[in-house]
Amino acid sequence: MKEVLVTGGLGFIGSETVVTLIEHGYHPVIVDDCSNAKEAVLERIETITGFKPSFYKIDIRDHQKLHEVFKEHSFFAVLHFAGFKAVGESVQKPLEYYENNLGGALSLLRLMKEFMVKNLIFSSSATVYGNPTELPLLETMERKEATNPYGETKIMIERISEDYVKANPEWNVILLRYFNPIGAHPSSLLGEDPQGIPNNLLPYVSQVAIGKRDHLTVFGNDYDTPDGTCIRDYLHVLDLAEGHVAALKKIEEKPGLEIYNLGTGHGSSVLEIIRAYEEATGLKIPYEIGPRRAGDVPVCYAGVEKAKKELHWEAKRSLKDACLDAYNFQKRNPDGIK
Ligand code: UD1
Repeated sequence: MKEVLVTGGLGFIGSETVVTLIEHGYHPVIVDDCSNAKEAVLERIETITGFKPSFYKIDIRDHQKLHEVFKEHSFFAVLHFAGFKAVGESVQKPLEYYENNLGGALSLLRLMKEFMVKNLIFSSSATVYGNPTELPLLETMERKEATNPYGETKIMIERISEDYVKANPEWNVILLRYFNPIGAHPSSLLGEDPQGIPNNLLPYVSQVAIGKRDHLTVFGNDYDTPDGTCIRDYLHVLDLAEGHVAALKKIEEKPGLEIYNLGTGHGSSVLEIIRAYEEATGLKIPYEIGPRRAGDVPVCYAGVEKAKKELHWEAKRSLKDACLDAYNFQKRNPDGIK
């Protein structure tokens, strides 16, 4: 079994990917500092898969401790999910974001170099495209300046990876640009578990659905879109997890540096999401129209041909399934994972 290091492996996307990796015969080793994830996720992974991955509760910037992990295992590749991810918070706490996200990536790369682990898959984001001037967004398009420190760290880690592969051509790095991951594991054991008030749309809608919050505020309905609300490319988190397995297979071909969008190629407006959620669950989601949120782009969806052709991957699950899985997870874990 191939051992892979998964940083941030207890988080929303990391944990779903760990499950998928196990199901595909990989042997994931998790490193997570639990700054935004619960240790209980580990048992839930075991309940789903029957396998308990090795887990180290450490901050990846702690060189000595991470060194021990590299010494104890023989990694085929690293999947790097760990990082702070709240856009608004990153504007308030830029130093923390640069220190954590860049410091973490650099510490990891240094150890990968020392231990000659030459394969990396990095969680990047559609945010690197900035405000789209052309759609769909293609991997060949230029990166724009980010509107916030969180996005800036994604851009910088992409650049660092590119420079590193240029200097070390025997390395392979795949940058996966995620669009909007939603949904949960169909077992309702794993899902998005935000602390405090959710920033993202689906967790907020789910909290309204179970009566934890009384209504959703739609951030603006005066955009230049058919119903005036913003359009995003929402994909099921399990499809996204499978995208990582496809990228791991690709990395065996020693591709050097490659970039892939992971999305559905299809955009949905905020009002369409509310409707899909209502249809999936049979519930009414009360909402109000509020002002625009700073930094939101009107429309964003992925070009998916490259991933289809080269990774033999495409998102398969429906929006309705994603909404139902998100709802079931929220219902079963009204106060998050404990
Ligand atoms: C956001 C980040 C993106 C990051 C991603 C990580 C911004 C500008 N972008 O994406 O960089 O990679 O999260 O998960 O923050 N909405 C509402 N009401 C709400 C919440 C959201 O109407 O209470 C709307 C937003 O205006 C947006 C859509 O829902 O149009 C999706 O929002 P969200 O889930 O926060 O994702 P993004 O903004 O696309």
